[in-house]
Amino acid sequence: ATEGTAIICRAAVAWTPDTPVSLEDVQVDPPKAGEVRIKILFSGLCGTDLHILEGRTKMPFPIILGHEGAGVVESVGEGVTTVKPGDHVLPLSVPQCRECRSCLHPKGNFCRKENIISPTGLMLDGTSRFTCKGKRVFNLYGTSTFSEYTVVSEIAVARVDKAAPLDRVCIMSCQVPTGFGAVVNTAKVTSGSTCVVIGLGGIGLAIVMACKASGAARIIGVDINEDKFPWARELGVTDVLNPGQLSRPVQEEIQEMTGGGADFAFEAVGLNDTMVATLESCDPSFGVAVLVGMAPSGQKLTFDPILMLPGRNLRGGAMGEYKTRDAIPQLVSAYLQGHVRTDPLITHRFPFQDIRRAFRLQQEGGCIRCVLRL
Ligand code: APR
Ligand code: ZN
Repeated sequence: ATEGTAIICRAAVAWTPDTPVSLEDVQVDPPKAGEVRIKILFSGLCGTDLHILEGRTKMPFPIILGHEGAGVVESVGEGVTTVKPGDHVLPLSVPQCRECRSCLHPKGNFCRKENIISPTGLMLDGTSRFTCKGKRVFNLYGTSTFSEYTVVSEIAVARVDKAAPLDRVCIMSCQVPTGFGAVVNTAKVTSGSTCVVIGLGGIGLAIVMACKASGAARIIGVDINEDKFPWARELGVTDVLNPGQLSRPVQEEIQEMTGGGADFAFEAVGLNDTMVATLESCDPSFGVAVLVGMAPSGQKLTFDPILMLPGRNLRGGAMGEYKTRDAIPQLVSAYLQGHVRTDPLITHRFPFQDIRRAFRLQQEGGCIRCVLRL
């Protein structure tokens, strides 16, 4: 009976960068044409959410963060055909419109309809569905899952099997495809290979899991926080390195350990230095370096271009280069069939009211993924 009316519900509003989010009553307007209003039940807290709150990644404020949610469709706007009320869905920060140049290309996945590189914080029609204390509130990548209700464009909604436990598959909307796809779509990790993963957080460990599943013989994990090492070893890391404990740059150590460089190297931190270290860790002639982490806004990556001459490959990709609406429901099915066991990636669960505690835990590096129950 909420269809067509504004809903007042709880959401975590980030009013300004560098201050904790606050739980507020927000007004969530009904979905317009081509939009879907979703009751969010669970949401993971990702490194990107923290980086935005810290002001490292620029975004318009006030904003409702969260982009790793799962929920149930409450109502749909005019012309929506692919989902209906009651469907179980994951909102997607990379949509799939199936009409743009990228969506029509067999390999392209970076849909032109939502610009996550210079985000407006608004719906596709240039307006917002969120108001709080009389102020317009922006959305994050068109998803904003730290709200009991959110409005998402139909092209950014993946319908998933109702049998899937939403408290576990919510991470399939970002963390899992980002990590898995970097390995299977972007790098195409081969059996028997040596892989390097720099940054053993939520994304890095999803990468580790996929490297192992792809038959990597050796997985070298790098992190400045040694608390991550036990989790990393459990998921398949064979060698661990803490750059803070080394007397030379980590890439030199890796070049020596591997007798000339890794086959594949992944950056899952989001810093320029670790990106260059990733490039320099792989074999000069056939190594593949994949940048997964998001660099701070407005920075420039600098490295000697001679590094590329022998044949190194430098690659990027968002959401693991999956065409999201096609691939994510399939990942969820693979989970249900027991082919992908992603549960160990979630180490903590908090009720929504403890969201500040979840942000602190993420900041302190005390978790892999914390999932909030809304
Ligand atoms: N060298 C190695 N590891 C580092 C360094 C460094 N200089 N600095 C930080 N780290 C480690 C942290 O200790 C942490 O374990 O990188 C890891 C980052 O993990 P999370 O903070 O959990 O972030 P995650 O959600 O995994 O996202 C990683 O991907 O999507 C992007 O914006 C996101 O850039 C971020 C990256
Ligand atoms: Zn598109």
